[in-house]
Amino acid sequence: MSPAARSEPAGGPAVDLCGVRLPGPVLNGSGTFDAIAARRAFGDALLERFPFDAFVSKTITLEPREGNPPPRLWETPAGLINSIGLPNKGLEAFLAEDLPRLAELPVPLVVSVMGFTREELAVLVERVAAREEVALVELNFSCPNVETGLVMGADPGETAAAVERLRPLTDKPLVVKLTPNAADPAAVGAAAEGAGADALSLINTLKGMALHPRTREPWLGGVTGGVSGPAVRAVALQQVAAVAGSVEIPLIGMGGIACGHDALDFLAAGATCVAVGTESFRDPSAGRRIGAQLDAARGESRL
Ligand SMILES: Cc1cc2nc3c(=O)[nH]c(=O)nc-3n(C[C@H](O)[C@H](O)[C@H](O)COP(=O)(O)O)c2cc1C
Repeated sequence: MSPAARSEPAGGPAVDLCGVRLPGPVLNGSGTFDAIAARRAFGDALLERFPFDAFVSKTITLEPREGNPPPRLWETPAGLINSIGLPNKGLEAFLAEDLPRLAELPVPLVVSVMGFTREELAVLVERVAAREEVALVELNFSCPNVETGLVMGADPGETAAAVERLRPLTDKPLVVKLTPNAADPAAVGAAAEGAGADALSLINTLKGMALHPRTREPWLGGVTGGVSGPAVRAVALQQVAAVAGSVEIPLIGMGGIACGHDALDFLAAGATCVAVGTESFRDPSAGRRIGAQLDAARGESRL
């Protein structure tokens, strides 16, 4: 199958996301689906029945990172706590090795970047957005700015300053990924929009921890981690509704989506697209299933 060929939509109808046409509204959450490994496992069948309508890369940083020490995962009654710590090969190796392979996927490509200073982010955005394979750039703002000590996406002023620095660097759409670990995500979303963001995605993981059942020491090598999966869905839905009430730009809603009815809830709360994260670990074709279920649920509820 040629790279240009389209796979069947994961869940129609087609969506316009910041001028980029997607065959349907179902994306993956960054870092929850390794398309290069999946292609190795499933071959070209992956391209023919790709689970998502756009693919979001794992977050990349300027320099390579090993990530956090193990253990990196803890299963909660309805989800996961991960302390993966953004292991990645860094910008240069991503551009040289991974981007050409991701460009073979039959859907538009979103590349997620994270920087520890605004200048680092500027390099990432400039280099990534300059590549024609990339349709949109997602800014993962869930990390501290080492210069100000503030988490980039937790403070409206910090968010606005970062987006203002990045906005002139590219005409490609910039998607700001909001952290739920903020006092007022709706204010952060409005600040991102005011500074020129084209879309928002939410939620990232909620901060959590787990203790070793015998020693009561922190289980995770990173001590704390990010909670995801159905356990966070109600929180995510509320934050999507709150942010939708404070901005005009499109939202990509995520957090615990495991079936079409969950996805429809996020669209009803104001999202234009949805993303599937933790559910893909249980079922690698979840995106496609949820897309089909969403179509059926829409028919029933006429949304
Ligand atoms: C194992 C794992 C790795 C993740 N890696 C990233 C990442 O690299 N960048 C990012 O923005 N979000 C990352 N996330 C967050 C997800 O993209 C998503 O925002 C969050 O998990 C909520 O969706 P879910 O409940 O459907 O998983 C990760 C989540 C998990 C569970």
